[in-house]
Amino acid sequence: LIAGYKTVTNCQEIDFNQVREVLKQAGLAARSVEVIEKAFKNSYTSVFILSGDNPVGVGRAISDGAYEAGVYDIAVLPEHQGKGLGRVIIDEICKSLPNMNIILYAMPGVENFYQKKGFAKMHTGMIRFINADLMRSMGFI
Ligand SMILES: CC(C)(COP(=O)(O)OP(=O)(O)OC[C@H]1O[C@@H](n2cnc3c(N)ncnc32)[C@H](O)[C@@H]1OP(=O)(O)O)[C@@H](O)C(=O)NCCC(=O)NCCS
Repeated sequence: LIAGYKTVTNCQEIDFNQVREVLKQAGLAARSVEVIEKAFKNSYTSVFILSGDNPVGVGRAISDGAYEAGVYDIAVLPEHQGKGLGRVIIDEICKSLPNMNIILYAMPGVENFYQKKGFAKMHTGMIRFINADLMRSMGFI
């Protein structure tokens, strides 16, 4: 798709230590490798952009497989950002979710990235965060 990169949509042979590194360097929650691997393996769609064998971009969606889905953990390593990889990840995820409502919450400041992909701000979106105080201090709620 983009020269020098490969898109993979299954979790076999994925180095989840490196997936954790991508999430961490992109500023997303620093969970353990085991928990991250479980989340991706239990997801409806997982997308990995590889440079060689190394994941440099990731993303996933959960879904009922019928009409509702949610997108999580979209991240690209800082040195690979701005090349269109984020766009490829979202396109690949949305392609796997035809005729479904797709919900997500953006990192504060990243809303435009999703608006360009057809996502709109919700008026009634609600979430019960595990750590509401932290998420409030970060500007999510
Ligand atoms: C957000 C992120 C995934 C985008 O990936 P990327 O590969 O750099 O994005 P792309 O190169 O595919 O850019 C696609 C478009 O979104 C825009 N865009 C990219 N990052 C953006 C940002 N942080 N804010 C607003 N717009 C952004 C680009 O300008 C581009 O616009 P264009 O189509 O008009 O040229 C990546 O910057 C990242 O990992 N950021 C840190 C983690 C994060 O915030 N993840 C989102 C969690 S909700």
